[in-house]
Amino acid sequence: MDIRWRLRRGAAATPTRPRGFLSLKADFSKPDSIPSLFAAVKDEFRASSSVVVYNAAGRTLPPVKESVLSTPAETVVSDLIVNTISPYVAAQQAVSGWASLPNEAKKTFIYTGNILNVCAVPSPMMMTLGMGKSASAYWIGLADNLYSTQGFRSFCADERYEDGALKGMAIDGDAHADFYAQLAAHEGNVPWHATFVEDEGYVGFKLRVERRPSRHST
Ligand SMILES: NC(=O)c1ccc[n+]([C@@H]2O[C@H](COP(=O)([O-])OP(=O)(O)OC[C@H]3O[C@@H](n4cnc5c(N)ncnc54)[C@H](OP(=O)(O)O)[C@@H]3O)[C@@H](O)[C@H]2O)c1
Repeated sequence: MDIRWRLRRGAAATPTRPRGFLSLKADFSKPDSIPSLFAAVKDEFRASSSVVVYNAAGRTLPPVKESVLSTPAETVVSDLIVNTISPYVAAQQAVSGWASLPNEAKKTFIYTGNILNVCAVPSPMMMTLGMGKSASAYWIGLADNLYSTQGFRSFCADERYEDGALKGMAIDGDAHADFYAQLAAHEGNVPWHATFVEDEGYVGFKLRVERRPSRHST
């Protein structure tokens, strides 16, 4: 995955790197690779990044299509690392860097989530992704509750349809960009579970409980 940081000032463009961008590569199934990314950013810009977005996600389909628990444990572990442990390490690095930023700087960690932390969508394909999104939602909510008094906000961003349904393949990159800019500016008193709708921004939704009808139901 490429990670891009916008340069804030003064960095020269090169033929391979347009002005304003630093591009780094890392394998997020290895959380140990993350601190060196933050160190590279600090070296380059002489400051820590005030906004960190973790967008990567891992999902593996079960080998037996209709059997949700057929996924081998080692696959569950490796997707959990990408979806939960690596963003946790990224948030640790972010918080550590924020200590060196001025008080007035708005410090923000955004994790791209989806509906799975509040809804067990009845599809075996969602298993490892949903485990990771759910586990991450817990520490992101906890971190937001405990750090927000210091001006550090953590969000689990979750694009939905207007009726609150999973956006799935219809997610919109521009809608994410607009909403993430609002989150980074700490506008609108948005809660950590930042459910949003394109062109509307934050919309709170009731918990959804999905259930596939049982074959044995009457
Ligand atoms: N709100 C919703 O309903 C909804 C719907 C869809 C997606 N989403 C979320 O939006 C985000 C982006 O989704 P997408 O559809 O663009 O996902 P995608 O097409 O499946 O891409 C996944 C991204 O994660 C990166 N990634 C996966 N494993 C990695 C690893 N080990 N190391 C580094 N990078 C890794 C991939 O990098 P490479 O390209 O280099 O492999 C890719 O950029 C995800 O967090 C996803 O869960 C939300």
